[in-house]
Amino acid sequence: MHVILTGGAGYIGTHTAVVLAERGHEITVIDDFSNSSPVALQRTAEIIGREVRVIEADLADREAARAAFSGLDADAVIHFAGLKAVGESVAEPTRYYRVNIDSTINVLDQMRERGINRLVFSSSATVYGNPEKLPIDESHRVGVGVTNPYGWTKAMIEQIIRDAQKIHPELAAVLLRYFNPVGAHPSGLIGEDPSGIPNNLMPFVAQVAVGKREQLSVFGDSYPTVDGTGVRDYIHVMDLAAGHVAALENSKPGVAAYNLGSGTGSSVLEVVAAFEAASGRKIDYRIVPARAGDVAEMVADPHKANTELGWRTELTLADACRDSWNWQSANPNGYAEQGE
Ligand code: UFG
Repeated sequence: MHVILTGGAGYIGTHTAVVLAERGHEITVIDDFSNSSPVALQRTAEIIGREVRVIEADLADREAARAAFSGLDADAVIHFAGLKAVGESVAEPTRYYRVNIDSTINVLDQMRERGINRLVFSSSATVYGNPEKLPIDESHRVGVGVTNPYGWTKAMIEQIIRDAQKIHPELAAVLLRYFNPVGAHPSGLIGEDPSGIPNNLMPFVAQVAVGKREQLSVFGDSYPTVDGTGVRDYIHVMDLAAGHVAALENSKPGVAAYNLGSGTGSSVLEVVAAFEAASGRKIDYRIVPARAGDVAEMVADPHKANTELGWRTELTLADACRDSWNWQSANPNGYAEQGE
């Protein structure tokens, strides 16, 4: 298949590009590089052994989206493009709604106009809000108790895709609800490169390990969990990437949602210990008050993806820490030149 990857220069997009290329698919990346680096695509090309076709465009702009899609004879779109920082979305809600929702609407319109009938969307476990039961399966209610505009854009976009599919019945749309993506390609050439201070646990821990940050703040230690710290379902980005390919190859007309998670939860302190073991470095931390909007525990029931997509996670938290450390220690400044 010829697959368009919107936001394909980002963390999950680059790793998915590698797996798609390994499976023999043709790829085209559309990205505006507002939160990603062209270097990531050069590295991706290095891994897959050939150039990656890239179109620079802001998909939230209708005309730019039309121009980007014109002339691309594609079979499928994986729609990664979007803003993704929870805290920033609280500070700049209208920007989040505009960018995430407008770009999706433009992608859907282009797909219908051009007869592109397969869509995989980067959704998030955040659409479940505060879990009613654990582990969470796909029948869990969606959109109730979501605590930030970023999360709402994901819940709203899921609904927009469902409605759009009704007037584009050939469309096979898959909503992938990611749990917590971590790790990097085993080559260490590509990985997660957050701008500024990382919001997420694993990149922050990696930057403490490499000496870029002094100390991790652990957000709360009195949750009703194994050690009082927050529990999440960490999924290696290579497993996540493989999940996209399985979703694409198994999609059928209609809309289907799948959790992409391992089914296993790990606490913040367990992640710290795993990273220390993988890196041989001490991770200094202190306990601080819980972060607003955080839930105690999020763990996927991945059974539906296991059975319907024939996909399951194969890598562990230890693998993710090893690969994240490999990436971080080889690229302490991410894709920027040294010292930038
Ligand atoms: N944490 C810390 N210190 C940090 C960062 C995180 O203690 O500096 C803790 C959090 O409190 C949480 C765990 O580490 O218990 C994981 O936090 P992340 O920020 O890495 O991930 P979240 O689970 O909060 O959020 C992630 C994605 C969101 C998505 C959500 C869906 O970043 O985009 O999962 O559940 F919405």
